[in-house]
Order: sequence, then structure tokens, then C-alpha cells
Amino acid sequence: MTIKHESQKIAQNFYTFAVLLFLVQVVVGIIAAVQFMWPEFFILNFNIIRSLHINALVVWLLVGMMGATYYVVPEESETELWSVPLAKFQFWATVIATTAVVLGYIWMGINPQANNAIMGINPLNEGREYIEAPRWADILIVVSVLLFLLNCVMTVLKTKKWTGIQGTLLGGLTILALMYLPGMFYTKSMVKDQYWWWWVVHLWVEGAWEVIAGALLAFMLMKTTGVKREVVEKWMYIEVGLVMFTGILGIGHHYYWIGTPSYWLWIGGIFSSLEPVPLLIMVWDAFRTTRETRVVTNKPGLYYTVAHAIFNFVGAGLWGVIHTLPQVNKWTHGTQITTAHGHLAFYGAYVLLVMAMIYVTLPAIRGVKEFNSSRAYQSFWWLTISMVFIVLTITGAGMVQVYMERLMGLDYVAVKSTYNLWFWIFRAIFGVGFLIGAGIFVVDYFKLGKEPMTAPRPTTQ
Ligand code: HEM
Ligand code: HEM
Ligand SMILES: [Fe+2]
Repeated sequence: MTIKHESQKIAQNFYTFAVLLFLVQVVVGIIAAVQFMWPEFFILNFNIIRSLHINALVVWLLVGMMGATYYVVPEESETELWSVPLAKFQFWATVIATTAVVLGYIWMGINPQANNAIMGINPLNEGREYIEAPRWADILIVVSVLLFLLNCVMTVLKTKKWTGIQGTLLGGLTILALMYLPGMFYTKSMVKDQYWWWWVVHLWVEGAWEVIAGALLAFMLMKTTGVKREVVEKWMYIEVGLVMFTGILGIGHHYYWIGTPSYWLWIGGIFSSLEPVPLLIMVWDAFRTTRETRVVTNKPGLYYTVAHAIFNFVGAGLWGVIHTLPQVNKWTHGTQITTAHGHLAFYGAYVLLVMAMIYVTLPAIRGVKEFNSSRAYQSFWWLTISMVFIVLTITGAGMVQVYMERLMGLDYVAVKSTYNLWFWIFRAIFGVGFLIGAGIFVVDYFKLGKEPMTAPRPTTQ
């Protein structure tokens, strides 16, 4: 496996930054888990640790997707990237801005006054979950993303070779960029603020990002199994079309209890219940393609691709649909049931997606024909088993919480600090298992293709 265009190598810069942030995210997640049992643990309080955990997650996934796109676009357009220096500049700008934002959060954790508003603007943290980055960073992010999109579109224009895959990918990325904007202005009304905030959060993960996932799934299946482009693209259009049809109005499942009109109970309930359908079609697509193939060119790549499709359906689809009807959500809203779903959905849909893209494209970038894949499988099982158990423990904690708090009327802190304690202990233990998996993956990332082969790579299945 080798790359066709030298400039595709730029993907590696983005991957490296992404996997390092992944490690930070997991370490910080374990600190957060320990703070559930021992709130005084660590110099930074839970609020800062939690922001670091989820912001690192969002940023590394976005950086990983950018890297993947820089690989896919030249490949599909059959030309070099329009401007490598621009991509490099945009990469370093992202690294520097992210580091500055992280240092800002840490500084604010040690000295909370540092975030006091200056002319009505909080300089270090805006306080909106997942997109806490301050205004100056928002502007830098927008500039960086615009440069990124410009670079990709100009590349396509060089040869005017539009493929369904790369067109869908860039379409998803454009919606992603546009959907960042509603999170950038303040309103005094909390209802309106939440209303727009969900445009970013929901329309990202259940709209734009799933469109990107659909396009990358098609790309990965094509690359690893050699299946015909027409076939994967046909299914990609159906998947992506259904994602938009169900996902856009599915936003109503966040508008049940925030002060928005009651018709959202119906719209949200109906459309979001249908959201698992395209995700199930993706699983079927992955299995059908795999079964029909005789020659697999990159087994770990295909393995991660199929795993991504399965866990996207389980985490987002199943763990989403169980609490999406207003009749259920009335009881589970904002409990550990939500947290359980948040973990499995992000892991299945996007962590495995970026990892799959790394395994599909990195061997070519490093110019290796064969690589030792044992660490890829090891890390997969450590990560997946640990995550499944984290999610089961937290789902248990959520069930206890719903019953005791919402049905029996017990106090939040009483349930958290006594009745749910064992769940927190187990979550922290499985968290360490997850860290081991992440560690194996990061080592594998740096070593892939750089050590002598020990085991032959099977080419048929
Ligand atoms: C890959 C896609 C998805 C990701 C990454 C994801 C992630 C999340 C996260 C992190 C939250 C918590 C937000 C918060 O902080 O309050 C959330 C909430 C929610 N998600 Fe998803 N989700 C996905 C897809 C879905 C799907 C397909 C459904 C329904 C079928 C769904 C149903 C819900 C519901 C109902 C809530 C609100 C929970 C509450 O009321 O507390 N999600 N999701
Ligand atoms: C790639 C793996 C992970 C992903 C995708 C992830 C994702 C998330 C998300 C989306 C949230 C916000 C959830 C919500 O508000 O509903 C969150 C919170 C949290 N995560 Fe993770 N996480 C991961 C790994 C871990 C690990 C290994 C641990 C440690 C055991 C951990 C511990 C926590 C804790 C304690 C919170 C705060 C929960 C709360 O406020 O109730 N996470 N994580
Ligand atoms: Fe949603």
C-alpha cells in the first residue's frame, strides 16, 4: 500500500495530534470518575476536569476527521492537495489555539476570577457544555475551518472530479461549519440559548457528523474490500438521506422540557424514534459488503470499519432510542442514562470511525505493504469491553437514580454519594481498562509500519 499523492501525508500530522489528545481525554476522564467518589481529588475541580474531558473529545474527533478528509479528497479528485503550506499553517494554528484554550481552562480552574467578564465577554470559558471555548477561540476556529474547506474545494476544482463520496464528505463538513455559528451568540433568555445550543450539539452529532460517517464508511468499505464504487455510493445516498430526514427534526427530543412549544413532544418523539433506521442500514451495508468480498486488503482496517458501524447503531441508535420518547425522557432526562448513552454513542460512532480511518489510511501513508496487526486487535478489545462495561455500570446507576430520585423523591446528593457508590467504583476500574486500550493504540499508532514483520498478514477470509 502506498499513497498516490504525496500531499496526502499531511493527514498524519492531524492524526498524531488527535491520538495524543485522545490520551489526554481518557486520563482526564479517569480523574473525573475518581472525583465522583472523592470530590476533593486533584487540584482542578470536577467542573474544569469535565470540560477538559468533553472538549478534548470533540476537538480530537474533529482533528481526526480533518486529517481523514485531507487523505480522501486528493485520492478521490486524483490530484495533489491545492496547498500543502496552507494545510500545515491550518494544522499549527489548530494545535496552538487548542493548547491556549486548554491552558485557559486550567488557569481558570486555579484562579476562577480570571474568567470574569471583560466588556461582557468571558475571556477563558463561555460555559456552554461541549463548546465552552471562548469567543476569540471561536473566531480562530471559524477561520481555520474556512481555510480547511477552501483547501479541499480548490483541490476538487483542480481536476473538477466530483465523486459521490468526496462530495458528500465536503457537504457534511460544510453543514458542520455552518452549524457552529448558532453557538456563537448570546441571548438573555435561557430558553433561546438552549434552543440554539442544541443546533450545534444535536445537528452536529446526529446530522453533519453522521453524514461524514456515511461518506467515510463508503470510502473505507471500498478501500478495504475493493467493492464497486457504484454499490457503496448507492447505499451511502440512502443512508445519508435518511440521516437527514430523521435527524434534523429529531432535534425535538431536546425540546421537550426547556420551555419550547408542546408540538415538539410529537415531532421529537416521532422523528428521533426513526433515527436508528439509517444506522441499521449502515450495519447491514458493512456486513453485506464484507460477506461478498473474497480479497480483503487491510484486515484491521475492515475490522474497525465494521465495528464502527455496529457500535454506531448500538450506542447512538439503541442507547438513544430507549430514552427518546417523551413518556420515557420525562423520567430519565439529565440522569446517568443520558451519560451512558453519551459514552457509547460517541465511542461507537466517532471514536471508532477515526480509529478505522487511521487503520485504513496509515499503512499507505507510511508506505508499508504489511504490518503487524496484533496490537490493533488487542487495543480494540481492551477499549470495547471496557467501554461496554462503563456503559452498563452507568446505565445501572441511571436506573437507580431515576427510581430513587424521580420516583421516591430522594435527594440528588444522597443517591449519588451512597446508593450509587459501587457503580462509581466499577466505572473507575473499567476506566483504567479503557486507558490500557488507548495506550496500546497510541503505541501502535507510532510504531505501525516501523518495525520488522513477525506474523504474516492474511489476505483472504
Ligand atoms: C452518534 C450519534 C449520537 C451521539 C454522539 C449522541 C450523544 C449524546 C450526548 C453526549 C448527549 C448528552 C447531551 C447533554 O449533555 O445533555 C445526548 C443526549 C440525547 N440523545 Fe444522543 N447521541 C447520538 C445519537 C442519538 C440518537 C440516534 C438518539 C435517538 C434515537 C439520541 C437520543 C438522545 C436523547 C433523547 C438525548 C437527551 C437525553 C436527556 O434528556 O437527558 N441520540 N446524546
Ligand atoms: C472515548 C471514550 C470516552 C468518550 C467518548 C467519553 C464521552 C463523554 C461524554 C460525551 C461525556 C458527557 C456526558 C453527559 O453529559 O451526558 C462524558 C462525561 C464523563 N466521562 Fe467520559 N468519555 C470517554 C471515556 C471516559 C473514561 C475512560 C472515563 C473514566 C472512567 C470517563 C468518565 C467520565 C465522567 C466521570 C464524566 C462526567 C459524567 C457526568 O457528568 O455525569 N469517560 N464522557
Ligand atoms: Fe439529539
